[in-house]
Amino acid sequence: MSVFNSLPPKINQYHLIKWLRANYPFLNKKNLSLNILNSERDKNYLIKVNKKSLYVLKISNPLESKNFLEMQDFLLTNLNSRASIKDFIPKKIHSTLNIYKDEIGRSCYVRILSYIEGQIYAKSKSSKELELSLGSLLGNLSKELQNLGHASSFRKFEWDPSSIDWIKKDTNLFKGKRKTIINNNFQEYEYFVKKNKNNLRFSLTHGDANNYNLVVKNNKVIGLLDFGDMIFAPTINDLAITLSYALMNKSDLYSPLKNIILSYHNIFSITFDEFFSLMSLVKSRLTITVIMAAKQRKKFPNNTYLGISEKDAWSLLYKLDKINPYLFIYFLRDLCDYPITNNYSKVIDYLKNNKFSNILDFDLIKINKSTIYLNSESIFAKNSTHNPKSISKKINSYLSKNNSSIGIGLYREKRNVYKGKNYVSLLNPNTRRDIHIGIDIFSSAGTFIHSPLNGKILILTNNAFEFDYGPTIVLEHTIDKKNRFYTIYGHLSKKCLKLLHVGQQIRKGQVLAEIGNFPINGNWPPHLHFQIILNMMGEKENFPGVSEDILIPMWSKISPDPNLILGIPNSFFKKHKHIANLITKRRSHVSNNLSISYNKPLQFLEAKGQYLYDDKGRQYLDCVNNISHVGHCHPKIHEALVNQNEKLNTNTRYIYKIMNDYSEKLLSKFPKKLDTVFFVCTGSEANDLAYRIAQTYTHSRDVLVIDNAYHGHTNTLIDLSPYKFKGKGGKGQKDHVHVTKMPDGIRGDWKYKNKFWIKEYIKDVQKIIDQIYSNNKKLSCFFVESILGCGGQIILPPNYLKETFKLVRKKNALCIIDEVQTGFGRVGNNFWGFEEHGVVPDIITLGKPMGNGHPIAAVVTTKEIANVFNNGMEYFNSFGGNSVSCAVGNAVLEVIENEQLQKRALDVGKYFLNSLNLIKKNHPKLISEVRGRGLFIGIDFVKNSKNEPNKKLASLIINKLRNQGILLSTDGPYHNVIKIKPPLPFTKEDSDFVSQELDQLLRSLY
Ligand SMILES: Cc1ncc(COP(=O)(O)O)c(C=O)c1O
Repeated sequence: MSVFNSLPPKINQYHLIKWLRANYPFLNKKNLSLNILNSERDKNYLIKVNKKSLYVLKISNPLESKNFLEMQDFLLTNLNSRASIKDFIPKKIHSTLNIYKDEIGRSCYVRILSYIEGQIYAKSKSSKELELSLGSLLGNLSKELQNLGHASSFRKFEWDPSSIDWIKKDTNLFKGKRKTIINNNFQEYEYFVKKNKNNLRFSLTHGDANNYNLVVKNNKVIGLLDFGDMIFAPTINDLAITLSYALMNKSDLYSPLKNIILSYHNIFSITFDEFFSLMSLVKSRLTITVIMAAKQRKKFPNNTYLGISEKDAWSLLYKLDKINPYLFIYFLRDLCDYPITNNYSKVIDYLKNNKFSNILDFDLIKINKSTIYLNSESIFAKNSTHNPKSISKKINSYLSKNNSSIGIGLYREKRNVYKGKNYVSLLNPNTRRDIHIGIDIFSSAGTFIHSPLNGKILILTNNAFEFDYGPTIVLEHTIDKKNRFYTIYGHLSKKCLKLLHVGQQIRKGQVLAEIGNFPINGNWPPHLHFQIILNMMGEKENFPGVSEDILIPMWSKISPDPNLILGIPNSFFKKHKHIANLITKRRSHVSNNLSISYNKPLQFLEAKGQYLYDDKGRQYLDCVNNISHVGHCHPKIHEALVNQNEKLNTNTRYIYKIMNDYSEKLLSKFPKKLDTVFFVCTGSEANDLAYRIAQTYTHSRDVLVIDNAYHGHTNTLIDLSPYKFKGKGGKGQKDHVHVTKMPDGIRGDWKYKNKFWIKEYIKDVQKIIDQIYSNNKKLSCFFVESILGCGGQIILPPNYLKETFKLVRKKNALCIIDEVQTGFGRVGNNFWGFEEHGVVPDIITLGKPMGNGHPIAAVVTTKEIANVFNNGMEYFNSFGGNSVSCAVGNAVLEVIENEQLQKRALDVGKYFLNSLNLIKKNHPKLISEVRGRGLFIGIDFVKNSKNEPNKKLASLIINKLRNQGILLSTDGPYHNVIKIKPPLPFTKEDSDFVSQELDQLLRSLY
């Protein structure tokens, strides 16, 4: 027989007072009175002296064991010596366990404890402060109990929520919903508690920190009573028991859970595995409560204390039963900064490092998309009545107005469309589940959905309720033996339900289903709901696609951004300005002689490698930006820049090692003779300085340039650039500037068919030099690009440089190579464009690719020339060669080497030239020549076999290909040459894409 089956002591209060006076001298007071207190199995009294509550008298059940009461005394004494807890527990007043005989002569042990004055927790108004204080009291209790032990604590105890098998038979006490709930609890207990027991910490536990054993004062828990249920059990029991009472009568479960658990955890860390059992222990304890109440009520119909929590326990059990047990586990783990699921980092790594196939028939990255906002300001979610047809119409007209093929509904958007009570939060009914944790793809009904990766059908069902998923597929994806994850496809048409079956293997790229129409798709405008799921949480038919605000941190880890698979550029999801507004503003602030490319200008938001991404989330292949030489936004360049900028950025008047390192590395790329460098910021500055050096060295000003050359935008350089001074707004040729004919074998004075065409151009140089000297002038230098960019990507013919340099040098003038466009490995066969001509220039100027977008440029020359220039006038450049620029320049050289970009330019360039020459073969009347070195290529478009330049066609092509996602531009004196000079990560596949699109376009045009 246990204490539960034995009646509490039968007491005659008058007799008891007398006995107390006789046995406890400190109670031998005139005005001693007793007030009965609630107890299930004992008789407890409040002892008052002069109406003042002083002590608690505990007369134990006659069947209570002495050992057990001694254990309580032992614990009270011990806990009273622990600073963190002593003020919260009663003090032992009695010195020995006396025996009191009750009215029917049974022996009962007597104890007297100090009284903690306050209100009972159950009767107190709940508040955050109160819950926090409760959590920390329990945390301290668990902490202290770790180091205490007592033989009597090793016992079986009916109220221990970690061992409830003994009441399993009592489920028959209930019927209907109650029975289902209790059965569910037992099932969960088996899985979440029993199977997990080996992973739980065990210690002495209080065993009954319920809301009638907690004393509250000034909104804080100040006392913990009743150590009569102490037992060696899972440590986490105490928290679970407290929660089972603290959550009663709370409509918002979220806040008390958060407050109590966090403050407990801050003092005494809950383990990852304890979270697995915690809420099931809560349910177990409530299960004990309702079973015991039902049983005891039968036996002791008059003891009201026995049923004290029954009603509240049931209503909490009903509430908890609706909530997926994993939700608690994950929410609480996340709250305490634990990983939620073991597979998280493995799956995220997998998603980040793998390529997935298209979810629709085409690549989402290659089409224009628009965001379909469904938030409170959404134009689509304004009406209070839900009408999928009219929303659908609005979405379609919005998409066509924005020139977009599909709409994208956002991950983690707080939405205004989730109606109905299904979307009320179960944790806190004052909040709704209205934050989307998938991505929606709005397209017409019937659009095919492909599986982006291999998988197996786990769920295939029709969630056929309004606002639900309609026909739904969940695929299971296996990474390795231990790690798998899932993807969900909602709002499909019914076809897939017939065509597929659960367990079916699905291949990457396979058509899976099609987008469904309303009303069968849950009565939504046609769209796909796509979501990643790291753990199915035991769900068999469905999976939450929306979450309440408070649980978003947790859900984001279970259902991370589906864009990890879709691969839409992240910038697309950020709010940005409409391009038309940007253009208007730019026009009002910035001079209009800065041109804007294409008939339909582009706003770019981000870039990577050879790709740029616009405001429609579309990818563009960059075929023109040789400045982003090693690839847009290269992480190594960025890192070098940031690291240096964090440490030091100063100018060349101080000593810093990075300038020496970089100079050495850069000069190692040149013939030995070229051993001195001047750092500047732009190509123009470099040419300007080179010209100044040449003037100082030669004491003359006259300069020889090639027709159509461009050397920079400064006053001086516009004069040296026929491309500018002969063009619109140009002021014509200056006296000191001498122009030799451009060696153009197609349209020049001497053409390929003339056997001596090269010699003729060399002779022209001789002629001009002669003219200079016949006018009593003196030549300072010859400026020449190693491939003539603005001239139309013209490759200098063999021997041209060798011979012309000889002519120039005969006059002691300097030969300057402008390598601003072509340098740093782009030409593939050499690091510099001039090298293939077998010459060593006197000065070389560098720019554009040198800093991969960071403004750094240089003049490289010989020590002898530099010494002459060092004529007493200081050369100072505020920014040129500063520490950051040098670090960036150095990183660019490293990346070129490490990623073997020169070789890549050679291989891909050859491949590309071949393809383009095939296109030329297909369209001989449209293309006169494809020319280039490495990834510096020009396609010369003509009107006819007479090679009349076709500016119109070239311009049409670049605008049409822009619409296909390819960025090109035109050059040459007639603007008929399409220039190709992409960032060097450009691949053969990229070149195929350009060739195919170009060929197709030309075929469609002619
Ligand atoms: C051959 C050549 N030299 C010099 C420059 C001027 O460089 P920057 O624009 O950096 O001043 C350019 C610019 O396009 C160029 O093509």
